[in-house]
Amino acid sequence: MATATAGAGLEGVVAGPTTICNVGQGQLVYRGYEIHDLAEHATFEGVAHLLLVGHKPDDEELKAFDAQLKAEREIPDLVIDVIRKSAKLPNAVPMDILRTAVSVLGHVDPECQDNSPEAELRKAVRLTAKIATIIGHMQNVIDGREIISPDPSLTHAGNLLYMMTGEKPTDQFARVIDVSLILYAEHDYNASTFTSRVIAATLSDMHGAVTGAIAALKGPLHGGANEAAMEMLQEIATIDNVEPFMQNAFETKRKLMGFGHRVYKNGDHRASILHTLGRQVAEQKGAEAVRWFDLGEKVQHIMETQKNIKPNVDFPCGLTYFVMGIPVPQYTPIFVASRITGWCAHIMEQHQNNRLIRPVADYQGPSDLKW
Ligand code: SDX
Repeated sequence: MATATAGAGLEGVVAGPTTICNVGQGQLVYRGYEIHDLAEHATFEGVAHLLLVGHKPDDEELKAFDAQLKAEREIPDLVIDVIRKSAKLPNAVPMDILRTAVSVLGHVDPECQDNSPEAELRKAVRLTAKIATIIGHMQNVIDGREIISPDPSLTHAGNLLYMMTGEKPTDQFARVIDVSLILYAEHDYNASTFTSRVIAATLSDMHGAVTGAIAALKGPLHGGANEAAMEMLQEIATIDNVEPFMQNAFETKRKLMGFGHRVYKNGDHRASILHTLGRQVAEQKGAEAVRWFDLGEKVQHIMETQKNIKPNVDFPCGLTYFVMGIPVPQYTPIFVASRITGWCAHIMEQHQNNRLIRPVADYQGPSDLKW
């Protein structure tokens, strides 16, 4: 039996091995490749291949992988129906609709119950392709537009933006989304990935594990922070209000969304990459967009100088997606469109060397009561 009790939130606990990702204070590495290198030189499709297949694709492999993703973009009518009906429900936010849609995708996937490595790789490709389409269709339904078919001439990121808006994105916008997808793709045993591994470790199926992971990602302490960060900035609203808002937040011990991290103590390697790209977008968009970045940078400065707490990737993500005109409730679904690759890589790794994940609890209740 175990004797040591883990600290609250399992902080510092090494929960198991992985060869997929190394989240370190010095660098973030996906299967040996450092994140700045990937953000500058790779595409999301290449990173998805790296994570799912296990190595950097050569040109032929990348072409074939890209073709598979494109061939799998359409989603079944049943899932479109679920999106249409769910979007009318007052309590269903986009992350919930996406979660349900992914669960329904499992019902119509002929390999849903097959956990072999070959079937799981095919399912991972299908999920990666189709989740982007679900997000696009969902936004069309919310906006009261006809749904927009995927465009095979566009990259994964470009097509995601196109399906959401009906407009072909500029190369710059498509690349900013592409880089954000690269940055979000994988982060070792974060809460949603750990959730997916716990589910997979019971020998349950990939769609079920991903459905659980989406639920875990939704929370504002995790992926939901990119939406919550932007909502917080909208609440602050003006540069003049930053100081009083922050002082009040410190006095009331309010958590500032998009700041802090369980692992990174010197800052999140991904944040500055996205911040730089987002600011470039803002500067091209004009004064109003730049104002949001100025406001965000002031919040960041006060947080860093007064609390020594740095932004995580969700802070620049919120700002960047906002100045690009993406609706706030889709920020965390877009995180899913990327992290699906990391989750599936972990589900496959878990299944290929499985042992049930079942820790013990430190029981602190009474034991001598009589019924
Ligand atoms: C993601 O794990 C991953 O890898 C996740 C992720 C991924 O790619 O998968 O990187 C993505 O989820 C990023 C995190 C997004 N969440 C947020 O931005 C929400 C705001 N952040 C915090 O709530 C917090 O920093 C967490 C949840 C991210 C981490 O929480 P911890 O490790 O449990 O730390 P804590 O809450 O116990 O804070 C420690 C101290 C406290 O002060 P003291 O009580 O010791 O004086 O730091 C303070 C906290 O009050 N603190 C904050 C803060 N974050 C930490 N204070 C104000 N605002 C914050 N955001």
